[in-house]
Amino acid sequence: MARGKLISLLLLFFAMLVFMAGSASQKGEKTEIVFYTPAEDSSGAIRQLVNKFNAENREIRVEHRTLSWGSDDCRNFYVSAFSARDNSFDVFSGDIIWVSEFASAGWIEPLDSYFSEAERTDSLPGPVEGCSFADRIWAVPWFTDSGVLFYRSDLVEKPPRSWEELITVAREKMAGGAIKYGYVFHGNQYEGLVCHVLELIWGNGGQILAGDRVAINSPEAITALQILVDLIDLGIAPEEVLWYQEEDARLFYQDGNALFLRNWPYAWSLMNKEGSKIRNKFKLAPLPCGPQGAKGSGCLGGWNLMINSQSKHKEAAWQFIQFLAGFDAQKFHAMVGGRLPTRIAVYRDEEVLAVNPYYEELLPNFLAARPRPVSPYYPALSEAMQINFHQALSGIIDPAEAIANIEREIKQYYEDE
Ligand code: GLC
Repeated sequence: MARGKLISLLLLFFAMLVFMAGSASQKGEKTEIVFYTPAEDSSGAIRQLVNKFNAENREIRVEHRTLSWGSDDCRNFYVSAFSARDNSFDVFSGDIIWVSEFASAGWIEPLDSYFSEAERTDSLPGPVEGCSFADRIWAVPWFTDSGVLFYRSDLVEKPPRSWEELITVAREKMAGGAIKYGYVFHGNQYEGLVCHVLELIWGNGGQILAGDRVAINSPEAITALQILVDLIDLGIAPEEVLWYQEEDARLFYQDGNALFLRNWPYAWSLMNKEGSKIRNKFKLAPLPCGPQGAKGSGCLGGWNLMINSQSKHKEAAWQFIQFLAGFDAQKFHAMVGGRLPTRIAVYRDEEVLAVNPYYEELLPNFLAARPRPVSPYYPALSEAMQINFHQALSGIIDPAEAIANIEREIKQYYEDE
C-alpha cells in the first residue's frame, strides 16, 4: 500500500512538473507589451478590446495601463517619460495634436513601412493627414473626433444654425421654465477650451494662420470669443463652465440641466444609456455659425496609435495596432464605446448605423472637421490660447486684448521679428 501511495505521489509530482514546465514555456513564449491610453469612460470598450486580443493571441500579451482623462495631463506624462528614454511601455494612443511634436523629437517610431498605402486610403483623410509629419506617417488612425452640438429634441424642433439663434431659443426656453440653462460647454483652462474657441472663430470666418502668417487678430476672431463671453455673462451658460472639462459638461447636460451642449460624439452613447435622464431626448447637429461666418466648423480631434521609439517590442506593438485599428475592433469601439471610426467602411455598416444613426447625416461634417495648427511648437501655441481665452471668459481681460496677446505670443514661432 505504502508503495502504491509512493507511486501515486511520484506520478502527481511529475504531472505537476510537466504542467508547470508547460505553462512556464507558454508564458516565456509570449511577448509582453504595455499599452497606455487616457482613463477610460464607463463603456469599458478599450478594456474589452484588450481582453479580446489577449484571449485570441498566443504570442503576445498586452498590459493595458491608463492615465488621467485629459489630453494635457497625458501629454505631460509622455514628455517626462520620453525625456528619460523610458522603454517601459511600447504602444499608446496619442492625441492628434502631438504627432508633429513627438515625431520631430524622435520619440515615436515612423510607421511608413508598416502602414500600407492601401490601408491609408481606406481611412478618413483628416486623421491620416494628422498622423503625418515631414512626409512620413507616425501614427495609425484609431478614432477621430469632431466638435458637435447636442440639442434637446424634446424641447426644440430643430437645431439652431447660428449662435444668435441659439441665444434666442435658449433665452425663450429658460424664461418659460422649460430648462435651467441654455448652453453648457467645457471652458476650463485646457486643450478642450482651445478646440471650442477655435470652432467659434472658424465658424465666424476667422482663422489662426494664413499659410505661415499669424492671422488670428481679426474682427471675426474677436467677435467669436465675445459670443462665448456673452453666453456666460448673460447666464445662458452656468459660470461653472470655467472649471468644466468634457466629462463635467456631459454629466451636467445628462442631468437635464441645459438645452444645448458642445462636446465630442462619444457622449452620444453614454447619454443614451439606460438610466440617463435624457435618453432618447437629444440629437446631434453641426455647431452653429457666427454673424460673419457661412457655416459652423467642428474641430478635428482624435486619438491615434503610436509606438515608443525606445520600445524593445516594436513588431509585437505593430501586431496589436493592426488588431485595434482593424475593421472589427473599430466597429466594436463605435458600437460599445461610441467612438468615431477612422475606417470609412465602418460608417457604412448596418449594425453600426443602427446604434449610431447620426453617422449618416453628420459624416460630411466629420470629413470637414478642421485641424488645429500643425507644428512641433503646438504646445506653446496652445498654452498661449488656453491662458488668454480663459482670462477673457473669466472677465479678466477683454476679447480684443486676449486675441492681441495670442497674436504676439504665437508670432515668435512663425515670423522672424
Ligand atoms: C478630445 C479630442 C482631442 C482633444 C481633446 C481636448 O479628446 O479627441 O483631440 O485635444 O478632446 O480635450
